[in-house]
Amino acid sequence: MGKKLKRLFSGIQPTGEIHIGNYQGAIKQWVKLIDKYECFYCIVDYHAITIEYNVREMPDKILKTAVCLIACGLNPEKCVLFVQSHVPEHTELAWVLNTVTAIGDLQRMTQFKEKSQQHKGNVNVGLFTYPVLQAADIILYKADVVPVGEDQFQHVELSRRIARKFNALYGKTFPEPQHLSTESPRIIGLDGQYKMSKSRNNYIGILESDEIIWEKISRAVTDPARKTKKDPGNPEICNMYSLHKLYSSREEIENSAENCKKASWGCLDCKRILWKNIVESLKPIKQKANELENNIDYVHNILKENADKSRKIAKETMNEVREKLGILI
Ligand code: TYM
Repeated sequence: MGKKLKRLFSGIQPTGEIHIGNYQGAIKQWVKLIDKYECFYCIVDYHAITIEYNVREMPDKILKTAVCLIACGLNPEKCVLFVQSHVPEHTELAWVLNTVTAIGDLQRMTQFKEKSQQHKGNVNVGLFTYPVLQAADIILYKADVVPVGEDQFQHVELSRRIARKFNALYGKTFPEPQHLSTESPRIIGLDGQYKMSKSRNNYIGILESDEIIWEKISRAVTDPARKTKKDPGNPEICNMYSLHKLYSSREEIENSAENCKKASWGCLDCKRILWKNIVESLKPIKQKANELENNIDYVHNILKENADKSRKIAKETMNEVREKLGILI
């Protein structure tokens, strides 16, 4: 028998079509790690209801998120891809973990502060305890590693603290999960300022048409000091250049930098190459997504079957947790 693989857990919100920030910051790595770990990838619908959302659109968004993940290369035969709410033990464990989590720890979470600003009229308790549910997601499977983008490092660190506290109070039960980062843990959006995200509408979606992607790239912010084509630019502070580093050949990257510094190229010249390469890299993903969309029952069935696999482990962990807590079984 082969060596037992370490366990990996990660999650994504059901926003439907994912963007290249999700892909570069997390999903690309998820795909690579499938053979190295026993992988659980979760579409976290209960997290998504902590902000206002459209109830009628939610089922399609969950399915579309799954479509995107599989199209990006997450082979559902080789990993467990499932929906959070299909495994009720996530929320059950979250309740238990609420009792070992300090309010002060939740108050200092950057994402909570940002989201409370963005959704001033709806700062609910779920938004506040969001990281506790995230900790429950991870430690329910006793995961060792959690591949995420930089914006989630703080939440994984808190998960570690929570696991440690539980172990100290009730006896060693959970490993302390570590985050895994990609080489590009923070992709800046087309505004050149904030993290790429759907909520800021500064993103490139992985299924968007070539024309829309060009429209978005052509308007994207570059080096702000470069006012006209004649001004030499500084690639190091240009977000388009950061994207070049992810999508273009070494020669194209060097050419773009040199011609930008010499002002022999305008930003659009540089953007045209980037556009060509992004569009090319998305082609197979779009094609696969299209096939899956036409076979959506297959995707739905995968999610249901995989939830059964997750539930089996989740039940075992919760039995152990109840016993440790001294709950009458
Ligand atoms: P979410 O849905 O916002 O993002 C999914 C993954 O994509 C990464 N990501 C980015 N990486 C780099 N640059 C960006 N601009 C960018 N935008 C998104 C995120 O870091 C993430 O890895 N709270 C989580 C979901 C979650 C989870 C979990 C993650 C719930 N439970 C347990 C790990 C483990 C979230 O909202 O991710």
